[in-house]
Amino acid sequence: MKILVINGPNLNMLGIREPDIYGRRDYKALCYYIMSTASDLGLSVEIFQSNHEGAIVDKIQAAYGAFDGIVINAAAYTHTSVAILDALKAVGIPAVEVHLTDINAREDFRKRSFPALYCFESIVGKGFEGYADALRLFAETNS
Ligand code: DQA
Repeated sequence: MKILVINGPNLNMLGIREPDIYGRRDYKALCYYIMSTASDLGLSVEIFQSNHEGAIVDKIQAAYGAFDGIVINAAAYTHTSVAILDALKAVGIPAVEVHLTDINAREDFRKRSFPALYCFESIVGKGFEGYADALRLFAETNS
């Protein structure tokens, strides 16, 4: 089973960006965590990170016919991007939304999520572990 993990803007700054909110582990550590969890679960995973909305839309479109599932942390675009929602709907690939922090317990503007209108599950506030939970959901549907 092939899973595409998409990380949106500023997630590449993990470890540097607001460590009191996002923790001190960096983006490389997150990628390592995702890849090692995927390998334990027998999933094949590609990780894509971009700071650009259109690049994320392009990547979702290119996933059509190539991936069985998407794990998406659209970061700030979560709260603004109808284009990312429409791209998910366009390709119809099962998707799970992940956020490191609990977006429902922060500023009001973070409470609205466009990807959540498509994703079959949203996992929030569990840090890196949220990505493992998302991958596990796909591994379970596969077994
Ligand atoms: C985030 C939450 C978003 O509100 C924020 O813009 C991010 C990270 C998270 O993983 O907690 O960049 O998606």
